[in-house]
Amino acid sequence: MRAVVVESKGAAAQVIDADEASMLQGDVQVDVLYSSFNFKDGLAIAGSGVARTFPLIPGIDVVGRVTSSSSEAWKPGDVVVANGDGLGEFKHGGFATRAHLAADSLVRLPDSISPDRAAAIGTAGFTAMIGVLKLSDAGLTPDSGDILVTGAAGGVGSVAISLLARRGYRVVASTGRIDEQGDYLRGLGAADLIDRAELAEAGRPLQSQRWAGAYDSVGSATLANILAQTNYGGTVVACGLAQGPDLPTTVMPFILRDVTLTGANSVDAPHEVRQRAWDALGSELDLGLLDSMTETISLADTITLAPEILAGRVRGRTVVDVNS
Ligand SMILES: NC(=O)c1ccc[n+]([C@@H]2O[C@H](COP(=O)([O-])OP(=O)(O)OC[C@H]3O[C@@H](n4cnc5c(N)ncnc54)[C@H](OP(=O)(O)O)[C@@H]3O)[C@@H](O)[C@H]2O)c1
Repeated sequence: MRAVVVESKGAAAQVIDADEASMLQGDVQVDVLYSSFNFKDGLAIAGSGVARTFPLIPGIDVVGRVTSSSSEAWKPGDVVVANGDGLGEFKHGGFATRAHLAADSLVRLPDSISPDRAAAIGTAGFTAMIGVLKLSDAGLTPDSGDILVTGAAGGVGSVAISLLARRGYRVVASTGRIDEQGDYLRGLGAADLIDRAELAEAGRPLQSQRWAGAYDSVGSATLANILAQTNYGGTVVACGLAQGPDLPTTVMPFILRDVTLTGANSVDAPHEVRQRAWDALGSELDLGLLDSMTETISLADTITLAPEILAGRVRGRTVVDVNS
């Protein structure tokens, strides 16, 4: 098989001919059709702490066609999706032409979603949908008020904007790239844009109420300011740390405004959460908008794209065509 391999901590990733039999383990064997490129894959290729075993094939997403399976749940020819579950962290991931996967981590692709679009959705889109369902399960409706999405031009942010707008919410997008990506974000459904600099510095523990809810990929002072600006009874979903993993907040938004802070996690999501999110993506995601936010790259391109995504210069979603 052809694979991107990081041989050891700090070593440069390389595309090599690797030995499938000695490297891969898992009860379902697939020909990888597509993977996708996420922030975490940039970290793994750059040699950060995301990679926990070596050698490692990065790639937290796999869309593949089953060739053999020791699990009765899957048979040759099935097209399956795997997101997270340790892939590209401590299990070999999707930046290869072959993968061996855990049967219980797999989701059946909805008929409406082709394999390349499933990769375009990937972990970022799957996580976006988990968070949108959380906002909706918390009782937020389009009449509740504005929903803020941070990291707007990134993968999670782009899909979250399109999903929330499709559900009828009024979405405000926070981005550091208003001039460059403003038209793109409005095209996805953002009703308004704010400069992320407005949220980036430490602020007062309680501020004017602006948001019925928020979807945050950024963390740190940005998330603290969002909590301080969330309406009484509002809900904030935290999924990422593009600004930083810290959360310099106080209890004030919780004890004086009854704000709820919840998470979205794609890596360890149980099967019913995975299938619910993918079924909702199959029925709700505007595939034309998905195409408009997607670029496709080759296996080798993943190595040069890593510093770009870590610098916040990649827009939307990137599909990896592992066979090119
Ligand atoms: N919890 C989970 O299971 C899960 C799943 C997927 C992703 N994540 C995390 O969610 C985050 C976003 O992932 P992604 O795949 O969407 O990444 P991405 O495509 O790289 O997007 C991240 C976006 O965050 C913004 N950003 C970058 N640096 C920033 C900074 N210093 N301060 C404020 N904003 C900054 C940029 O948006 P603008 O240019 O628009 O400002 C950037 O496009 C990452 O931290 C990732 O690890 C978590």
